[in-house]
Amino acid sequence: MQGTECGRKGSDAGQGEEALLRVEHVSKVFPVKKRRLTAVDDVNLILSRGEVLGIVGESGCGKSTLAKIIAGSLKATSGRVTLNGVEYPKLKGAAARNHRRNIQMVFQDPLSSFSPRMKIGTYLSEPRRNYDRLPRTEAWREAGALLEQVGLPASFLNRFPHELSGGQLQRVAIARAIAIDPPLLICDEATGALDVSIQDQVAALLVRLIKERNIGCIFIGHDPALVRSISDRVAVMYLGRVMELMPSRLLEQEHCHPYTKALLDSIFDVYCDQSAEIRLLEGEPPSPLRLQSGCAFAPRCQRCTERCRRTVPELKDIGGGHFVACVET
Ligand SMILES: Nc1ncnc2c1ncn2[C@@H]1O[C@H](COP(=O)(O)OP(=O)(O)OP(=O)(O)O)[C@@H](O)[C@H]1O
Ligand code: SF4
Ligand SMILES: [Mg+2]
Repeated sequence: MQGTECGRKGSDAGQGEEALLRVEHVSKVFPVKKRRLTAVDDVNLILSRGEVLGIVGESGCGKSTLAKIIAGSLKATSGRVTLNGVEYPKLKGAAARNHRRNIQMVFQDPLSSFSPRMKIGTYLSEPRRNYDRLPRTEAWREAGALLEQVGLPASFLNRFPHELSGGQLQRVAIARAIAIDPPLLICDEATGALDVSIQDQVAALLVRLIKERNIGCIFIGHDPALVRSISDRVAVMYLGRVMELMPSRLLEQEHCHPYTKALLDSIFDVYCDQSAEIRLLEGEPPSPLRLQSGCAFAPRCQRCTERCRRTVPELKDIGGGHFVACVET
């Protein structure tokens, strides 16, 4: 088992403040050609309202699989997920339908979630009409106000998706996600397809809305600098496991895990010195189909010892809300 409770306030996580979301010992194994692919491996997380938890890690480390499990669109192989104490993946019928409004997602490619023939106003008023049975005119009026909250003119209600830029569409996707006031928002690479300058604007918009509306948010991204800039805490994932979890202000200078260091070295050097060569992490991550015993990062870790190959590191609480899964830390 990979540690126990990894909450916002470290060892007293979940004691004083009631958690919005709890992910407890969650794993997901996919059967692939008669073998087992472990995409998420014993993950524990806690999120409070108004908090942004960033998740970073290389492609294939299990970020989207974990997001889908939390969103309720994928069943975990084992473990428990609760929102406000309710184990929602077990809900059935009307209770399950009603629960769906509580968790909204924003994806990387906004166009894929729009029907090309649907006006922006129809798309934006749908959630309130479906969940709250709001009359069309009222839902349409609210949709106009929502557009203004995300920095777009209400006149966009009558436009079609192809008449908007990628950044504008992503703002509309965010507006729709918050239309029914969900307590939890999951952004999976929500800014990944946008130009860098637009990325920052959309990220700033997200932070403002999350804080104003007291929403809990899981923000998944490839770019640790962007994820750090908008998150309160950051979880670093590798091969399905959380390797390090910390307040985001510690990410750049005070991280402890060799994988976090390798991940950041490959990125921050390039930010500081534009002429620097991008140093990629040595080697590819091993296939999740062929995991060996011990620490998953051992084959690529320069600090690896015999002990690392024998022991799967638990997430250890090192104080100040900082958790590390490394036997040598
Ligand atoms: N439905 C599935 N069936 C089998 N394997 C899957 C399935 N979905 C995901 N995987 C595998 O699970 C692992 C984690 O995938 P996931 O999409 O969660 O990674 P990710 O961190 O989101 O990657 P990226 O950054 O590229 O989006 C990968 O090895 C992937 O191939
Ligand atoms: S446990 Fe060992 S192999 Fe794994 S990250 Fe720490 S030092 Fe490296
Ligand atoms: Mg993904």
